[in-house]
Amino acid sequence: MPAQPITLEIKRQDGPGQRTYWQSFEVAWQPHMNVVSALMEIQKHPVTKAGERVTPVVWECVCLEEVCGSCTMLVNGRVRQSCSAMIDAIAPNGETIVLGPMTKFPVVRDLVVDRSRMFDDLKRIAAWVHLDGSHALGPGPRQAPETQEATYPLSRCMTCGCCLEACPEVHSQSSFIGPAAINQVRLFNLHPSGEMHASERLDAVMGPGGAQDCGKAQNCVKVCPKEIPLVDSIAAVGRAATKRMLLGWLLD
Ligand code: SF4
Ligand code: SF4
Ligand code: FES
Repeated sequence: MPAQPITLEIKRQDGPGQRTYWQSFEVAWQPHMNVVSALMEIQKHPVTKAGERVTPVVWECVCLEEVCGSCTMLVNGRVRQSCSAMIDAIAPNGETIVLGPMTKFPVVRDLVVDRSRMFDDLKRIAAWVHLDGSHALGPGPRQAPETQEATYPLSRCMTCGCCLEACPEVHSQSSFIGPAAINQVRLFNLHPSGEMHASERLDAVMGPGGAQDCGKAQNCVKVCPKEIPLVDSIAAVGRAATKRMLLGWLLD
């Protein structure tokens, strides 16, 4: 692999609502480098390719192993985790690497966005198993191995935002909750304790902004780093929501 310098073209924004601008940086190539390690080099020496000393580029990362989702950004126009974006794979011949923040979330600064809407949606759909007090409750109901196998892939969501970024139905004029939260409705409604609050979750994704707003373009499935069957989840939740709409008065 040629040890030529790496050029990164980075979209910058000094704060929420501020103008955006681009800056170009060059860092020395090192083996096994990823986008985060290249950003760390820029942080150590925040000087542009033109020789201007600037404020260090701001980004987020925590786990560095594609588990927390905090480092998600646009890398060469594709939404993904920057910690698993290996430099040799994305720029094998020293191509310029273009970095920008996700566009479906408010920018906090540079490559950092505010994903609060996703966490608010998890509250809206009660993405948890309710506990009645803090005293010992004993073992919960047993879960069939088939259900465990079905729910494990759904539980891998890290709230990274890739699916919302790719979804054409998620935009500033829409109230669509998006695939990640709908998948969590399916996950918790399959849980033997969680299903006690299934109707509450379904109510949260019925009507405008809910599962029915999905256009089934499957963009979300293509970008999900955890390969979660999001369209299957949306279809399953949509069916359950329709059933509840038609027969809910009988079931409540
Ligand atoms: S469903 Fe996939 S793409 Fe969407 S937030 Fe979860 S892990 Fe990310
Ligand atoms: S399948 Fe539905 S949720 Fe997924 S990208 Fe398309 S419209 Fe969005
Ligand atoms: S730092 Fe956690 S996913 Fe990249």
